[in-house]
This record gives sequence, structure tokens and C-alpha cells, in this order.
Amino acid sequence: MTVPISPKGPNLNAAAVVPAAGRGERLGPGAPKALRELGGVPILVHAVRVLARSRAVETVVVVAPKDGVAEVRALLADAIGERESAALVVVPGGDTRQESVRAGLAVLPADVDVVLVHDAARPLVPVDVVDSVARAVADGAEAVVPAVPLADTVKQVTPAAAAGLPEPVVATPDRATLRAVQTPQGFRRDVLDRVHAKALEEGVDATDDAGLVERFGGRVVVVPGHEEAFKVTRPLDLVLAEAVLARRRSRDEF
Ligand code: CTP
Ligand code: MG
Repeated sequence: MTVPISPKGPNLNAAAVVPAAGRGERLGPGAPKALRELGGVPILVHAVRVLARSRAVETVVVVAPKDGVAEVRALLADAIGERESAALVVVPGGDTRQESVRAGLAVLPADVDVVLVHDAARPLVPVDVVDSVARAVADGAEAVVPAVPLADTVKQVTPAAAAGLPEPVVATPDRATLRAVQTPQGFRRDVLDRVHAKALEEGVDATDDAGLVERFGGRVVVVPGHEEAFKVTRPLDLVLAEAVLARRRSRDEF
């Protein structure tokens, strides 16, 4: 099935689910990661603004920390306002990313055909990446992930029993065949619903949604991602994100 993607209009049925319910343990103590600020604006607001700006996205479902639903609703109502035209829904998340995505999928309107799942923790993804993922699904792919080549060579190891011990190398995969995947990942809605239901039934946990499609025999394709779509995970990522934002502002790209 192909789904037309054109400027926002009646024939468009794409929605975004934004898992934002994580604590951000690796970022260190403080507010939940999605609410930490970047250039004076919460990370989540950056991410939702990009999605709302995409011509492809009609509805944005934000999956908030369980105890932060009201706060997130108020924050987004203020920050997104009238300038962007996507409809916004906020629901409480779960204990894992996968549970949070499932909570978002559960409230999607019935007529949604295409779902983009986007980490709140990737606030600087360019809108072109959002559009190209949506387009690839509209053009017939069942699952699409944006990705970039790796800078580092990757070694597979036998993990040490205790931190700090030397770890034997098992293999060195050919770097040319590896990609680091980002979000938004795009899916046909029926496919994503099905694999999440199966994962729940079978107790399967994956770190990304495309992983579930692979696991259950679906076909996932990669499209070019962008270096600015990196995930804010550790403290240094915040430093980099502030620098990217400052560069955009100095170039008037905002
Ligand atoms: N996420 C979620 N619900 C969870 C866990 C994660 O919605 N129970 C979301 C995060 O808010 C984030 C995205 O999934 O936007 C990617 O996860 P990650 O970068 O791992 O964020 P955290 O889990 O918050 O960070 P950490 O793993 O360092 O605690
Ligand atoms: Mg996590």
C-alpha cells in the first residue's frame, strides 16, 4: 500500500510517537532528560517542534514520564502554540522505551497509516530527515531507519566479568557494512502495531522499533540520517548540542 505524502492536507495520515518518559540516567542527576534545557528550551520541545514543522506529520503523541504528564502538557501547549499545526496528545509512559512506545501507539487515531517513532532525546534532527523517512514509507517501505556510517572501527568482545578487566576481541566487523541508526524511524502503522503486540506476547525487548520488525521477519531499509540527529545521552552530548544550536543561531538557521 502506498500512502500519499504531500503538503499537509486531507490525504495525509502520518503521526509521530515521541518516547520521552526516560530518566536520563547516563546524563547524570537532574530533571528527566526530556525536560533538561538546550539553549534555554527543553529538549522535548525542540524535538516536538521539528516534528510539527514537518509537512508529513499531522499528529504528535508525546509519551511523558508517569508523574510528569500535566507538566509536559502545559509546557508543550505554551511552547508549540499556534505556529505549528500538528495536533498534540500527551500520555504517560512505561518502565522501558518499548512500553512507552506501545502506550503512544495505543492512542493513535484510527485513520493513521504511517507512524514515525522519534526519541525526544534527539532534539536537533533536521526536518529533512523527518520528511525523507516519511516519504520512504509512503513510497512503499514497511520500516525505515535513518542511519549514518560509523567513524570508529567496532570490535566485538567477550564482555569482562568485572569493570576494568581486559576483554578478549572476538571479531572486527567490516566497518563499511555497519551503520549507526537514529530516529525518527518510520513504519507502516499495521506493521508497527503487529510487531509491538507480538513482542508483548513473547516477552521480546528491543532497543529500537525497527529491531522488532527484523525480529519478526519484516524488511527494514536504511535511508541517510544526519550527524545532527545524534542522541543526547551523556553530559558531553549536551555540550555538543549547545554548540550545534549556537552555530545554527549564528547562521540564522533558526
Ligand atoms: N524512553 C521512554 N520510556 C522509558 C525509557 C526511555 O520513553 N521507560 C525514551 C527516552 O525518554 C528517550 C528515548 O526513549 O527519549 C531513548 O532512550 P534513552 O536515550 O536511553 O533515554 P533514557 O532511557 O532516558 O536515558 P538512560 O538510558 O541514560 O537512562
Ligand atoms: Mg535508556
